[in-house]
Amino acid sequence: MVTGANGYVASWLVKHLLDNGFTVHAAVRDPENKEKIGHLDQAAENANGKIKFFKTDLLKKGSYKDAMEGCELVFHTASPFSMDVKDPQKELIEPAVMGTENVLLTANEVTSVKRIVVTSSCAAIYTDAIDTVNAPGGHLTEDVWNTTASLTYQPYSYSKTLAEQKAWELAKLQDRWDLVTINPSLVLGPALNPKNTTSESVNILKLMGGGELKMGAPKMGVGVVDVRDLALAHYKAGFIPEAEGRYITSAYNTNFVEMSKILLPKYGDQFPLPKKALPKWFLMLFGPMTNKLFTRKYIRNNVNIPWKADNSKIKRELRISFRPMKETLEDSFQVLIDAGILKAK
Ligand SMILES: NC(=O)c1ccc[n+]([C@@H]2O[C@H](COP(=O)([O-])OP(=O)(O)OC[C@H]3O[C@@H](n4cnc5c(N)ncnc54)[C@H](OP(=O)(O)O)[C@@H]3O)[C@@H](O)[C@H]2O)c1
Repeated sequence: MVTGANGYVASWLVKHLLDNGFTVHAAVRDPENKEKIGHLDQAAENANGKIKFFKTDLLKKGSYKDAMEGCELVFHTASPFSMDVKDPQKELIEPAVMGTENVLLTANEVTSVKRIVVTSSCAAIYTDAIDTVNAPGGHLTEDVWNTTASLTYQPYSYSKTLAEQKAWELAKLQDRWDLVTINPSLVLGPALNPKNTTSESVNILKLMGGGELKMGAPKMGVGVVDVRDLALAHYKAGFIPEAEGRYITSAYNTNFVEMSKILLPKYGDQFPLPKKALPKWFLMLFGPMTNKLFTRKYIRNNVNIPWKADNSKIKRELRISFRPMKETLEDSFQVLIDAGILKAK
């Protein structure tokens, strides 16, 4: 079973499972909405596996029972990924934490389940780039937990932290299924359903190619991973018996200026991509006026600060290798152009 099966990240996982001949129980909010699930039907048509859709909701207790019945492996990816929310408790924390509880407690009732892979996030490990530098050894590892996000500062990161903590707490209370978490950094790469994807991942490239940053980009440290490599990481976390604990899933330690520079040779003539870094003093002065999320605290803790994480555990234990960042960025950008979401100037 895959929860949030229609999502940006989960869609590639579902495709990979179908291509490998598995029957996928796709748990979605609205199985009738062809715009949201049509690409999964199409993936199933071209694959050996089969897909069955189930109507579910993170906040509706028991709604995952039918979908989970008969499954050995559960991938729990569903969780709201949005930065711009009015009520973080209702829009982020409750679906993330209660949803995790709902799915994992249902697994206690469904005796076929042997393993649950939860899509957590590097956001459960850090809030700001400065946290990565301040971590023991000067980089993030799987031993680090986010202690700096809150309901009022970076609530998305807070929701992911609380949800992953809930998952480990529930896993320890039983011994039939085991838990593995995948902790991705910023996910980029081609969306399988770009027109109907609300993930912030797609919004970031829209922002870079759409001209909002044509004066320059903030040089903020981030980690990046390709959505296709992430799907494989989930798959291996599900099927390799020895997989255990958390896995930082991040290919590159980079920043938004470097990312734009990679896109410029191919797309710079047609799209107003940022060419330089905006000075930190300028952002401190004007940033908070342009976007309410871009507070002085956020700028201080992220701009001109490198992002550092150790990805050796997943490379070693799940034998994951990551594709070049150029391929990830160009493929993501091209999909947005092909879908008419980004238009040349
Ligand atoms: N994208 C990244 O950079 C990134 C990085 C680290 C971790 N992650 C994690 O990866 C997972 C997938 O994110 P994504 O980027 O693929 O975002 P996405 O495309 O927005 O997918 C989120 C999924 O969660 C579902 N969902 C949200 N609220 C729900 C609810 N109340 N009940 C049932 N389903 C609900 C959505 O369903 P609807 O389509 O019906 O809204 C969608 O299927 C999340 O757990 C996210 O935290 C993402």
